[in-house]
Amino acid sequence: MTVDLACSVPNNVGLAGRPELLRLLEWFQGGYREWWHDCGPAGIRDNEVYLRTPVGVDSDGWAAYGFVPLSQYRWGVFQTNPKPRTALFGEVAGQPVWQTLPSEHRGYMKKLLVIQGDTEPGSVEQSRLLAQTAPSLYDLRNLLQFSVEEGRHLWSMVHLLFEHFGAEGRDDAEGLLSRRSGSGDNRRLLDAFNNPVSDWLSFFIWCFLADRDGKYQLHSVSESAFDPLARTAQFMLTEEAHHMFIGEDGLRRVIERTLELMREHDTDDIAPFGGIPLAMIQRFFNFWAPRIYDLFGNDESPRAAQAFDAGIKGRIHEAGFADHRRLDDPVRVERREAGGFAQVEVPMRHALNGLMRREYLKEVQLLMSRWNRTLRRAGVEQELTLPSPRFNRNFGVYEGLHCSPAGDPVDVATFESRRAEWLPTAADRAHLAALMQPVHDIGKMAGWIAPPMRGINSQAVDFEYVRF
Ligand SMILES: [Fe+2]
Ligand SMILES: [Fe+2]
Repeated sequence: MTVDLACSVPNNVGLAGRPELLRLLEWFQGGYREWWHDCGPAGIRDNEVYLRTPVGVDSDGWAAYGFVPLSQYRWGVFQTNPKPRTALFGEVAGQPVWQTLPSEHRGYMKKLLVIQGDTEPGSVEQSRLLAQTAPSLYDLRNLLQFSVEEGRHLWSMVHLLFEHFGAEGRDDAEGLLSRRSGSGDNRRLLDAFNNPVSDWLSFFIWCFLADRDGKYQLHSVSESAFDPLARTAQFMLTEEAHHMFIGEDGLRRVIERTLELMREHDTDDIAPFGGIPLAMIQRFFNFWAPRIYDLFGNDESPRAAQAFDAGIKGRIHEAGFADHRRLDDPVRVERREAGGFAQVEVPMRHALNGLMRREYLKEVQLLMSRWNRTLRRAGVEQELTLPSPRFNRNFGVYEGLHCSPAGDPVDVATFESRRAEWLPTAADRAHLAALMQPVHDIGKMAGWIAPPMRGINSQAVDFEYVRF
C-alpha cells in the first residue's frame, strides 16, 4: 500500500480509491477538529511543537520529526502492510484471514471498536489541563505527542467502523466525540477514563500502567483473524511504545529527584523541600493501579473465550503457545466464597482475562523492581509496590471488598481508619497541585523531577521542544 500524505486524511489504506469511505472520514474530521479544539491540551493552540508524524509504516523510519503548529497537526490512518497469512488461533486456525468481517461477528466487533475507540479521546480529555503545568518543555512536548497519538488512535478505530459498517458507523462515531471524561450523564465508557489526571505524577503512572494495558489489549488483537484490525493494532503498537516510555522514564526521574532531596536533607519527608515523598508516590500507585486492573475485565469470562474461539482476540504472544485451539491447560483463579476466597483451577479458555492481567502484572513488577534496586542501593528501606488485585476494586470478583493494599481482608472501619495511609489524601493532592508550576525556560526542570538522560530524536535535553 502506498502512503498518501497529500490526501485530506493522510493514509496508507487507499482512501483515494474509496470516495465513499473518504467522505465519511472527512465528515468525521469536522467533528473531530471541534472536539480537539474543546478537549485537546489546554492553552496550547498555535504553538509550534517538535512532534513526530507518521509518514510510513516501515519499522525503521515510519515517522518524521519536525515543528508543527499544534492546531495544524494532521491526523491520519495507517496500518502495517498486508502479508499473506492464515489465522493463528481459535476455531478458524489455519484458514485464510478475513479482509471483510463475517456477519456473525459484526455485533462483537462493533462493540470492540467502540470501546477501544472511546478510551482514546478519554485519555486526552482526562489529562488536558496538564499542558498548563508541565515541568519542562521536554515533558510538555511528550504530553502533546501522547495527546495527538491518542487522537490518531481514535481515527484508527473510526476508520475501521466506517470501512466495515459504512454509514451505520456514524452514530457510533458521534458518540465517540460527544462523550466526555468524567461527565455525569455522558461519561466515557470505561471507568478508568473518567478519573481526571490532574498532576504529572498521576500522568506518569497513567502512561506506565494504562498505556501498558493498552499494549496488552492491542497485542491480543494483533494476530486477529480479522486482518484489518490486526494490521491497525500493529501500527498503533509502534506508537504505544513511546507512551509507556513517557511513564516509565518520568517515574524514574521523579524517584531520582526524590532520592537526591532525601540525601540532601537527610529525611524521608521531603515535601517541605519541594519534592514528592516515596510514601506519597506509593499512595498514588495505590489509587491508579486498581482502576487499571479493572480494565482487564473479569478474570473468568465466557465472552473472552468466545472471542478466542472466533479467532478475533488471542493471548499475549499467542505464537509462543503450542496449542491454539483447545486451551484446556489448568489455570488458577480466585473466587469469592462465603467469608473468604477459594482458589480453583479452571481450563485456560475460561480465564483468558485473568491470564492476561497476570502476564501484565509480571511485566510491571519487573520494571518496578529496577527502581527498588536503586532505592536499596541508596540505603532506602521502603519499596514501591503494586497493590494486590483485591484492593479497592470497582469491577470484577473483588468489587466492593475491603482489603489492605497487601490483599488482606479488613472491616470497613479499619479501611477507613487507614485510608490516609493507603490512598492519596487531600493534603497530598494539595501538595502536588502546589508543585505543578509550568517551566518554560529551555532546558530547565521543575524542582521535583530530575532531567531525562537524553532528548527526543537525538536532540539535546535543552532543545526548544515547544515554542512560546
Ligand atoms: Fe491509544
Ligand atoms: Fe497510548
